[in-house]
Amino acid sequence: MKKINKKSFAKNGSSKLIAPSLLSADFANLAKEVKEVEEAGADWLHIDVMDGHFVPNLTIGPLVVEALNPITKLPLDCHLMVAEPEKWVSAFAKAGASIITVHAEATHHLDRLIHQIREAGCKVGVSINPATPVSVLSEVLAQVDLVLVMSVNPGFGGQKFIPSTLKKISELAEIRRKNDLTFVIEIDGGVSAKNITAISDAGCDVFVAGSSVFGEADRKKAIQVLRKGLK
Ligand code: DX5
Ligand code: ZN
Repeated sequence: MKKINKKSFAKNGSSKLIAPSLLSADFANLAKEVKEVEEAGADWLHIDVMDGHFVPNLTIGPLVVEALNPITKLPLDCHLMVAEPEKWVSAFAKAGASIITVHAEATHHLDRLIHQIREAGCKVGVSINPATPVSVLSEVLAQVDLVLVMSVNPGFGGQKFIPSTLKKISELAEIRRKNDLTFVIEIDGGVSAKNITAISDAGCDVFVAGSSVFGEADRKKAIQVLRKGLK
């Protein structure tokens, strides 16, 4: 299992990371696509897991994560958009997930689930949908490694960034600063060269990018263009 450490957060001499989302890759050539973004300078590989219940789409299961794990050194950033995430933590951990992110909306027992992910040996992420306030996470922020702010309604790639979600990034950054916490802030949905600077300025650390990386023919250039917008 690939562990995330401070070093990998600081790759490229910056604490800001680009995580291409596999959802926009060519599913007929997944291995080739993963190797290509790795060589193009990606920091993490974001893997969107959808179950057709929590979100209206079906995507990737643990078998695919297990198949991709040996072919890449990139940390596998598994974003579980599934109902009853408790049932899947162990399978994704065994498959090689580095980070397991679960939605606060998908469980009645977020605290227990956080412990379950940690005990499975993975970094712990929690996520909130666009309509969910940061305050639902207030009791768990000291326990997590990552907070994922959804800037689109989860389910599909290529949607428009919802501007009102930006204030949640600054709110989280402020809470982190005031309380001396260490979680990383990640944004997911509609990230592009046009908005990445504003998101970064708000305090975001990790930028999931689906269509703005895999949707471009030249992935290296696409990642460079995004990185240019980071401070
Ligand atoms: C949406 C997924 C995202 C998606 C982002 O439900 O969680 O990770 O792939 O895609 P873009 O960057 O195209 O909005
Ligand atoms: Zn995602």
